[in-house]
Amino acid sequence: MAQQSLFLSTNIRPTFLVKGDDLWVGCFAPKSKPIHLKLSAGCSIKATSAADSKPTEVPRQWYNLIADLPTKPPPPLHPKTLEPVKFEDLSPLFPDELIKQEASSERFIDIPEEVLDVYKLWRPTPLIRARRLEKLLDTPAKIYFKYEGGSPAGSHKPNTAVPQVWYNAQQGIKNVVTETGAGQWGSALAFACSLFGLNCEVWQVRASYDQKPYRKLMMQTWGAKVHPSPSNITEAGRRILQIDPSSPGSLGIAISEAVEIAAAKADTMYCLGSVLNHVLLHQTVIGEECIKQMEAIGETPDVIIGCTGGGSNFAGLAFPFIREKLNGKINPLIRAVEPAACPSLTKGVYAYDYGDTAGMTPLMKMHTLGHDFIPDPIHAGGLRYHGMAPLISHVFELGFMEAFAIPQIECFRGAIQFARSEGLIPAPEPTHAIAATIREALHCKETGESKVILMAMCGHGHFDLPAYEKYLQGGMVDLSFTDDKIRASLAKIPQVVSS
Ligand SMILES: Cc1ncc(COP(=O)(O)O)c(C=O)c1O
Repeated sequence: MAQQSLFLSTNIRPTFLVKGDDLWVGCFAPKSKPIHLKLSAGCSIKATSAADSKPTEVPRQWYNLIADLPTKPPPPLHPKTLEPVKFEDLSPLFPDELIKQEASSERFIDIPEEVLDVYKLWRPTPLIRARRLEKLLDTPAKIYFKYEGGSPAGSHKPNTAVPQVWYNAQQGIKNVVTETGAGQWGSALAFACSLFGLNCEVWQVRASYDQKPYRKLMMQTWGAKVHPSPSNITEAGRRILQIDPSSPGSLGIAISEAVEIAAAKADTMYCLGSVLNHVLLHQTVIGEECIKQMEAIGETPDVIIGCTGGGSNFAGLAFPFIREKLNGKINPLIRAVEPAACPSLTKGVYAYDYGDTAGMTPLMKMHTLGHDFIPDPIHAGGLRYHGMAPLISHVFELGFMEAFAIPQIECFRGAIQFARSEGLIPAPEPTHAIAATIREALHCKETGESKVILMAMCGHGHFDLPAYEKYLQGGMVDLSFTDDKIRASLAKIPQVVSS
């Protein structure tokens, strides 16, 4: 019998057919490597892409937007001297390679082979056309989403956890500490530490620690030690508990606790899940991959939407597209969506402020609600951060993107529509991107425009079901606060005269 031979790449989903008719014989998806197939005569093969996108390679470099900006972002300042921070100021907290990346203005930075090897556990991630959501909304818009929820921890966070832990391991570090809001970042770091044999200790924001016991168990399963924050273990935590013993905590407080421990212990480094340049850099693997996927299907986004806590998933998708925009190749609208309960870009001021509540981190120029602003305990715990990534704030000030805030009930309404049409249950954070996407798609329905909307769907919500229960039982409320609350916390930001 004659045989035909062919290679199948990892994104191809083949269906075997008996010659002459469409009798389905079998279907499988090759996992991590292209495979070589031999077919007997009389059989044929019909192959479709696993997602709407064509097969794509995992990018081999991260992209640094700073290289292409017309002006460089203002530097972080030492909290005592108010001078730009030096390499040695950061070395008690971060390994050398990450400090270099933090200050780098190189356009592309190679992804180490060992990191690429781990990325291949879940990358490339799918780019999916949300046809059923389009139909449900009866919109002429085309909605695409880039889904990061297939990573082991269930979000985009491992894209940076893995290199952060790898660079620490390369420098011989054995212990890392961090904060986590929703528990997504903590679980991503715990996962990465389990791969490279590091000890991991996590301060989890009290509100999430109580709302999300399964995230804590995930971290523990990967070997991490988890504390609710504020805790009695640190000076920063004790100070908050003295004022408010039932404090729901905040990312700013949890950062203070982890930084305090790292600064005090010579054998312990600190990892941050968002905000810093090197974190945003690592996340650009999302956008680089997505550019190739969109090109492969002949689409160009008109609007790019992502939720922003500290800004890393948004930047990860948007920054490579901003490069293309600056090059004049495309001109999408870039839109950040934040929670109405923690609206740093839309209601904060652009000023130097601490990254944490206790005032231990360098001062960063960013949109801030004030470092001791404690946001109401909305379900999107990962968006409860008082500031914004300085690089995003800079890009916002340059006018390359826009922002708006949405309250949580509208977000969960959108999440239910998304889950019931596309099947995936989103984490509470990307429900903000979904709600904004639905707004845009409905606007297209009114105007008749068939815009291409690209959305960052940065994580699944399998451990966030209590939030869905609240919504489904009608118990969810839109938490609001008075402008006095922002005014009071803004009054406490340090007075730095910009040079
Ligand atoms: C699923 C998910 N999305 C978004 C965020 C917000 O972080 P960032 O703005 O850095 O992407 C978090 C933070 O914990 C998260 O867990």
